[in-house]
Amino acid sequence: MALLTVLPALLLLLLLSASASAAGPAPEGRSVIAVSESGMMHLDTSGELIAWRRQVSRRWNDWHVATNPRNGTICWVQAHDDNGENAVLRCALIASLNDTWDLPQPPEISLNWMDALAFDWLNENWHFTAKELHSGLRFSYVCSYVFDRCVVVTEAFTYKEFYAAYDIPNRLLFQIATDGSGRYKLQVLNLDGTGLRELPTNLTYPTSLAVDPVQRHVYVLHRPKAHRRPSFRPLPPSIDFEIHQVNYDGENAKMIAVRNERWRILDRRVKYLGSIDVIDGDIFVIWDDQTTVSSVSASDGTVEDLVAGAVRRQALPALANVENLLGLRIVSPETQPEQVQNACEDAGCQHLCIPTAVNGIAGATCFCPEGQDLAELTCHKKYPAYAVVAGADSLQAVDLQTEQVVEILSGLNNVTDLEFFWAGDEEYLL
Ligand SMILES: *[C@@H]1O[C@H](CO)[C@@H](O)[C@H](O)[C@H]1NC(C)=O
Ligand SMILES: *[C@@H]1O[C@H](CO)[C@@H](O)[C@H](O)[C@H]1NC(C)=O
Ligand SMILES: *[C@@H]1O[C@H](CO)[C@@H](O)[C@H](O)[C@H]1NC(C)=O
Ligand SMILES: *[C@@H]1O[C@H](CO)[C@@H](O)[C@H](O)[C@H]1NC(C)=O
Repeated sequence: MALLTVLPALLLLLLLSASASAAGPAPEGRSVIAVSESGMMHLDTSGELIAWRRQVSRRWNDWHVATNPRNGTICWVQAHDDNGENAVLRCALIASLNDTWDLPQPPEISLNWMDALAFDWLNENWHFTAKELHSGLRFSYVCSYVFDRCVVVTEAFTYKEFYAAYDIPNRLLFQIATDGSGRYKLQVLNLDGTGLRELPTNLTYPTSLAVDPVQRHVYVLHRPKAHRRPSFRPLPPSIDFEIHQVNYDGENAKMIAVRNERWRILDRRVKYLGSIDVIDGDIFVIWDDQTTVSSVSASDGTVEDLVAGAVRRQALPALANVENLLGLRIVSPETQPEQVQNACEDAGCQHLCIPTAVNGIAGATCFCPEGQDLAELTCHKKYPAYAVVAGADSLQAVDLQTEQVVEILSGLNNVTDLEFFWAGDEEYLL
């Protein structure tokens, strides 16, 4: 079964000249945003609090945040008080997290059931993967910064859990999906939805996925064994949570670190809730106890707890007794592409453009709104509204909706050739 199909909306791939990225300046101010059910904390890499924002996240999926370290902003999924309403992205400055502004809601796309969210500073695009509740399908979307233009890039069907992680600098989307047999597959595709391939891995029970765009490694937070029916057999007192690493080709798999955790049983069900993010070999992880944030070195596996049930020197109840951590994101300029030529600026796309990097070559892909096709950089209705019928001495148009026939030209002598081209929205000419 096809797990993923590329919509026919993408047609043009402009390959522009290669722009090899030079090594950038050393990153300044790498830090971590950790979200719990009661708020959002901004920590430095030693665990000291930089900023805190009280913010109630009621649903697990609500924690998703995307940072733009290039201009110091962060945006997160802000669910409506009324659960049925669509969420919005709320933004603030990363340094203070205090003054906020909301972005417009995307039309007809729900932000509520998010798997992954990322911002591309280069062309100011949002990339996100979200579940459509009634169909259960996962779609990957790209939208403009204020959500006035959105397109579906991929559609994925999955039977069980689904994990996604964006590598914006290398223009890749990684995902873990299950097939009908319940087997987990690690896949990678280009940000414009092309080039889907599977990486050879043996995933047993992943609980979180992250990618390191600098060292080009995939990280999976993982539990090795199934304990599917805890009500029918005695549980061991604890379980191992492992951090696994593979490179972008799925090779050189290795385990970086392991932590033994007590079971977490919520609502009489065993829950596995971890979160991981990585930049340049610096791993940050929320373990399954949901009270510990650790930094882990990919090179030697050393683990240092930054938050262990409490944020250091903080007396506020939510910080002195940290619980129900949901997820984390690293803030670092390296999560965004370096300022290189934005191939979209020259691509001349009419609707939406995605900068790409296929085999290291910078390019751009133009997309049209759903129901429209791309022809010579402009978008046209996918199905022609009219058929043109040429007889030997007349030219007629048939409206395909109403089947009405209109004579356009008559008294022609001997039509032998018909040229057909677009001009404006749906025009044709002889
Ligand atoms: C940050 O960047 C976005 C998109 O590039 C822009 O729209 C927004 O105004 C910027 N915010 C600040 C505070 O500069
Ligand atoms: C937001 O935080 C900044 C820096 O910490 C501070 O100067 C400012 O007064 C705060 N604004 C509000 C509305 O709290
Ligand atoms: C997966 O596991 C099988 C059996 O243990 C092993 O032969 C194979 O090499 C593993 N593949 C990878 C990519 O690790
Ligand atoms: C129409 O044009 C074709 C090709 O030029 C020619 O063979 C044919 O005789 C013409 N018919 C009439 C009715 O002029």
